[in-house]
Amino acid sequence: MPALVLLGAQWGDEGKGKATDLLGGSVDYVVRYQGGNNAGHTVVVGDQKYALHLLPSGILSPDCVPVIGNGVVVDPKVLLSELSGLNERGVDTSKLLISGNAHLITPYHQTIDKVTERFLGNRKIGTTGRGIGPAYADKINRVGIRVQDLFDESILLQKVEAALQDKNQILVKIFNRRAITTEQVVEEYLDYAAQIKDFVTDTALVLNNALDDGKVVLMEGGQGTLLDVDHGTYPFVTSSNPTSGGACTGSGVGPTKITRVIGILKAYTTRVGSGPFPTELLDADGDKLRTVGREFGVTTGRDRRCGWFDAVIARYATRVNGLTDFFLTKLDILTGWERIPVCVAYEVDGRRVDELPYSQSDFHHAKPIYEYLPGWSEDITGAKSFDDLPKNAQSYVKALEEMSGAPISAIGVGPGRDETIEINSFL
Ligand code: GDP
Ligand code: IMO
Ligand code: MG
Repeated sequence: MPALVLLGAQWGDEGKGKATDLLGGSVDYVVRYQGGNNAGHTVVVGDQKYALHLLPSGILSPDCVPVIGNGVVVDPKVLLSELSGLNERGVDTSKLLISGNAHLITPYHQTIDKVTERFLGNRKIGTTGRGIGPAYADKINRVGIRVQDLFDESILLQKVEAALQDKNQILVKIFNRRAITTEQVVEEYLDYAAQIKDFVTDTALVLNNALDDGKVVLMEGGQGTLLDVDHGTYPFVTSSNPTSGGACTGSGVGPTKITRVIGILKAYTTRVGSGPFPTELLDADGDKLRTVGREFGVTTGRDRRCGWFDAVIARYATRVNGLTDFFLTKLDILTGWERIPVCVAYEVDGRRVDELPYSQSDFHHAKPIYEYLPGWSEDITGAKSFDDLPKNAQSYVKALEEMSGAPISAIGVGPGRDETIEINSFL
């Protein structure tokens, strides 16, 4: 004990990588529990910048064991290139553990992801095109290939053959694409098998033993609460559970072991891909947030949609995740505004609503009701304590805390590890 969960409280890209890396120096294990290389987690250490997609951000802390849990979907080609990229930069990746129960992304998943999106036209989800949804669909359909299948050639052959039976019909007859042969996939994946074999183990057993030995386990979410397939803005979501319940199913660590659930919360809001976004700014203010906040995707390079802070969403994240703390990021990006709008509730068809509307149509029609908080102009990137912040920045943080339903225990004032104000310890 204890296990901590760190997850996105909005639509992803809240700064989970930075927060995980910051805690990585004080924990024994960092576990990714869902998602795959749709994630893009940026970590800045000194003058070095790392973009992690599949690997847990704890990989940059030398004493921490990085773990890819059973709930993740693994593209082995991406995994190997990410590992070699880090090795070339002198990062030791030898401690990595990968669950044998994690599912594999294969080239047919990527092809189906991309062609499905193309055929959806303007109803598209705006996926990252990495094959995430189709790989999770196969898992639920019980035709997925797991990491452990790589180590038994005849099982691998049978499973790939079975999976390709209907995939090839779909690819050829519906999408007019070329069929993929079993041999092609098996040959490629056996080669990956040899390269990742030493990392693969029963990670749920390792983690539970570690907790029994008093070690600290940090579970790092990908994506965010509003992208959760159950609790997000369905269908404009990812195909997994970034919310705290997913940390249990995706790692094999039971809920009674979890002591803290930390929601990473940007001081404003961003979203990539399609779907409702009540506080979105389609004007010069949105462009300013994007430029100053450098809101461009780490994975796909797409412009992130930008808008004001939405307290309805933050409260919702507190509720569905059972958050104990928030880590507020990118407060420094808001420096320089005379006044800062904060969405405190919505107007839906002429009514005020204080909670996230559960009906999709209501959420699509939700208009933000703003309160205006006074801004500040002083540079806050060097702030080390809450008292170092200008009074109006302090008031902004306090107002967000009051509206969001959990204490703000840390504040990011820059991308670097040490550009953080720690208020309450997480450990
Ligand atoms: P993640 O997917 O949640 O890990 O977030 P991303 O890495 O996709 O996006 C967050 C971006 O904000 C990254 O470029 C981080 O380096 C940066 N970042 C994180 N925290 C802060 C902060 O407090 N201030 C500033 N200026 N940048 C931050
Ligand atoms: P991190 O971990 C922001 C979005 C995609 C799309 C939807 C479904 O960096 O916060 P998918 O490829 O998962 O099927 O796409 O989810 N999306 C993200 N948006 N940050 C992410 O990850 C995301 N991962 C997926 O843009 O709208
Ligand atoms: Mg990201």
